[in-house]
This record gives sequence, structure tokens and C-alpha cells, in this order.
Amino acid sequence: MSYYSEENIICNCLDISEHEIVFCVKHQDGKTVKDITKRTGAGSSCGSCLAELEEILVRETDKMKKTKA
Ligand code: FES
Repeated sequence: MSYYSEENIICNCLDISEHEIVFCVKHQDGKTVKDITKRTGAGSSCGSCLAELEEILVRETDKMKKTKA
């Protein structure tokens, strides 16, 4: 069983996991939902995952701010 086998899929259209989105926010300069869509493809089809992308973005950005403080 791989480490990511139970990964939460956020974007069902493109099969993009929460891990990939978090990675994008942390390491690929994903500062907006548009950035995340551009880099991972998540949110570029039906758009129903956009709210979740925003939630993850806000959560991870907050975490990074707290870590830096
Ligand atoms: S679920 Fe992400 S674009 Fe459809």
C-alpha cells in the first residue's frame, strides 16, 4: 500500500489530491486559486472543487505564516 493510497482527492475531474494542492501552495508558489489551477490543473474543468481549493489555500497559507512568526 502506497503512502498516498488513502489520499483525499479534491479535484475529481483531474484526479488531483489534497497532497498535490498543498505541495503547490508550499513549494510551487501557489498564492491564489488561479495559480493552483495553472500549476496542477485542479479546478480547470467543472469548477466544483474551487471552494475546496480556496479552503486549502487559506489553511496552508495561515500555517506558513504561523511557522514564520
Ligand atoms: S472537480 Fe475539480 S474541476 Fe471538476
